[in-house]
Amino acid sequence: MGGGRVEEDLRGLGLKIVVSAKNGSRDFECDPGEKILHAGLRRGVELPYECATGTCGTCKAKLVSGRTESAWADAPGGRYLKSAGEFLMCQSVAHDDCALEVGGTLKPREPGAVAPRAFGGVVRGLRRLTHDVLAFDLALDTPVDFEAGQFALITVPGIAGARAYSMVNFDRRAERLSFVVKKKPGGAVSEWLFGDRVEGARLGVFAPMGHATFQPDAGKHVLCIAGGSGIAGMMSILSLACEADHFTRWDGHVFFGVRTERDIFFLDELAAFRARYPERLAMTIALSDEDVPASLSAAHPEFSFARGFVHAVAGERMAGRFAGVRAWVAGPPPMVDASLRLLLREARLPPADIRYDKFS
Ligand SMILES: Cc1cc2nc3c(=O)[nH]c(=O)nc-3n(C[C@H](O)[C@H](O)[C@H](O)COP(=O)(O)OP(=O)(O)OC[C@H]3O[C@@H](n4cnc5c(N)ncnc54)[C@H](O)[C@@H]3O)c2cc1C
Ligand code: FES
Repeated sequence: MGGGRVEEDLRGLGLKIVVSAKNGSRDFECDPGEKILHAGLRRGVELPYECATGTCGTCKAKLVSGRTESAWADAPGGRYLKSAGEFLMCQSVAHDDCALEVGGTLKPREPGAVAPRAFGGVVRGLRRLTHDVLAFDLALDTPVDFEAGQFALITVPGIAGARAYSMVNFDRRAERLSFVVKKKPGGAVSEWLFGDRVEGARLGVFAPMGHATFQPDAGKHVLCIAGGSGIAGMMSILSLACEADHFTRWDGHVFFGVRTERDIFFLDELAAFRARYPERLAMTIALSDEDVPASLSAAHPEFSFARGFVHAVAGERMAGRFAGVRAWVAGPPPMVDASLRLLLREARLPPADIRYDKFS
C-alpha cells in the first residue's frame, strides 16, 4: 500500500527535457535520478549513443538551459567535450527542466526496434568457459524483446556505473538473457563476477540497447569478425540467421580471434551452427600468440585455423569476396579499429554495411 502511494506521489515530478538537433526538436520527461540518455530512449527519442557507458563521447550534448550533473565526472568520454556547457547524456541526470542541443540529426527509430526499459534479473547458471571467460544467464523479472546483436546495460549493487554486455542468445519475449564476460584485471564488475556469491544475485538491467543488429531480410552475405568475448553478439546473430535459414541463400563467414588454444570457447556451439549449413557457413579461428597446434586442427576438421590477428586473417581469406557482404565486428577497441580500417579502406564496404561494438 505504501509503495503505491509513493508512486502516486512521484508521478508528475518528471523533468521536461527538450532536445534540439539539425532536423528539429523533441521533448520527453526524465525521472529524478534517471540518466538523460535512458529517459529519451525509453520514450522513443533516438538520442545519439554508442557505448552508453561513458567512454566514446557519442552521446555528448550542449546544455542551453537548466541544470545537469554527471554521475561519473571522470568518464573517459569527457575528452570529447569541447566547451564547459557540454556533457555526456549517458552519465548525466537533470536537476531542472533542461534545453539541450545535439550535433547531427535525431533519427527515427528503426522499424520493429524495441524501446529499452529498466528491469531486474537474477544470475543463474554461472559457469567458467576458460581461465578468464565465464558465462551466465539473467532470469528476468519480465520478458523482453530484443534484436540479434544488441546489448544490455547491467548494474551490480554497490558498484558505480553500468557495464554493457552483449546478449549471446536470441529469443522473442525472452525470459533469460545469456552473456559471456572476460575478466579484466582490476575491473570492478568482471572481477566481481569471478568472485563468490554471484549465483542468485539480483542485478539491474536496462535493455535492449545497440545498433549492431542483424535482420535476415536485409538479403546480405554475413561476415562476423570477433575478438575474445566479442563473439557474444555473433552467437545471437548466428542463432537468428540459422532460425531464418539465412545460409541457404547467403554465405556466412565467421572469424573468431583469441590469443592461444586455451582461450578458445564456444567451439561446440559454433560447430553446431556450421553443421546445419556446411556448404555456405565457414568458421575460422585465428590464434594471435601461438602457431596452431596440429592436435587442434586435427580434432576440429570442421573449422579452419590460422595464426595471426583476426582482422588480418579475415582480410586475407576474404580478399575478392566482399561483394554483397554486411559485416559485424565486436571486441577490444584496437581489434575493432583495425577491422574497420580493413572493411572501409580495403574491402570498400559502405558504412551502412558495417556494424560494430567496441568493448571499451
Ligand atoms: C557495447 C558494448 C558491449 C560489450 N559487450 C561485452 C561482452 O559481451 N562481454 C564482455 O566481456 N565485455 C563486454 N563489454 C565490455 C564491458 O562493458 C566492460 O567494459 C568490461 O567487462 C570491463 O568491466 P569492469 O567493470 O570489469 O572494468 P572497469 O574498468 O571497472 O570498468 C569498465 C567500464 O565500466 C564503466 N565504468 C567504470 N567505472 C564507472 C563509474 N564510476 N561510473 C560509470 N561507469 C563506469 C566504463 O565504461 C568503463 O570503461 C562491452 C562493452 C560495450 C561498450
Ligand atoms: S554513449 Fe555516452 S560516452 Fe559513449
